[in-house]
Amino acid sequence: MRNFINISDVDKKELRKIIDHAKLQKEKRSKLNKSAIDPHKPLADKTLIMIFEKPSTRTRLSFELAMKQLGGQLLVLSPKDSHYGSGEESIHDTAKILSQYGDIVMMRTHKHKHFLEFSNHLEIPIINGLTNLSHPCQIMSDIMTFEESKGSITNKKIAWVGDGNNIVYSLIEACVQFNFQLSIACPEKLRPDKKIIKWAKSKKAKILITKDPFEAAYLADCIMTDKWISMGDKGNKKKKKKLLKKYQVNKKIMKKAKPNAIFMHCLPANRGEEVTNEVINGKQSVVWSEALNRIHVQKSIIEWCLR
Ligand code: CP
Ligand code: NVA
Repeated sequence: MRNFINISDVDKKELRKIIDHAKLQKEKRSKLNKSAIDPHKPLADKTLIMIFEKPSTRTRLSFELAMKQLGGQLLVLSPKDSHYGSGEESIHDTAKILSQYGDIVMMRTHKHKHFLEFSNHLEIPIINGLTNLSHPCQIMSDIMTFEESKGSITNKKIAWVGDGNNIVYSLIEACVQFNFQLSIACPEKLRPDKKIIKWAKSKKAKILITKDPFEAAYLADCIMTDKWISMGDKGNKKKKKKLLKKYQVNKKIMKKAKPNAIFMHCLPANRGEEVTNEVINGKQSVVWSEALNRIHVQKSIIEWCLR
């Protein structure tokens, strides 16, 4: 049984297959109507159950479209509607029930450890749709999007400017698995956990962590960022925003990168905070493709798990 929990859990060759299959899915879709069902219905007789403990627009809709376009079915559980969410049923019992009802689960949770506990009790594959620690499906879509505009990501330079959050964790894992250079600029207090950096270095990752956003952005092929306040962030928001003020991705930062560099953001964005309107709406921005590619990457991940 194959789960998709973290990018570091999956073999490099398998990750490459998932990306390449997603590219094929997109090509196939370009010849079909937006809402047409793939005539081969590769996911016919399969049901995806999605559980959301936090809000979502892209993850929810892209998984839903992925299932529908491939002829499958889906069920969605939000915390308000379920005994699990109200604390009236244990993770163990909920996992046992879902194992009987569906073929695969996608879950978005507050706590990564709850996700792992859930996956331990589940008898069908599970996909991580974001936890406090990682967002692997997003980074897979980002890799596909990068390669659409810049070719192979191997040895390219990606700069992260902003909060050291869950997206960066998956990006760090990806830099090891896909062998690209990663420069992270963030305030010292908001750096990703030392353990993940140590792990990446032990795998010979080409990784740099700095306080200086201009150093990170220098000659990068891509600049990435994310919201300064993530869902479920508990700390003092005002203080955090103050710390991150000089990490806004604006024209000055983009100028430090290669002239043809792209800008990426997983969305949702807070324009005027982590990124200016000028950059996110500008010619270098590929944020809409990132969101669109989520559909094709989800198809590929679901099919990989069910193989
Ligand atoms: N990028 C992303 O995962 O967006 P949602 O929170 O809307 O799912
Ligand atoms: N870091 C953000 C990503 C949202 C897709 C969050 O966890 O809220």
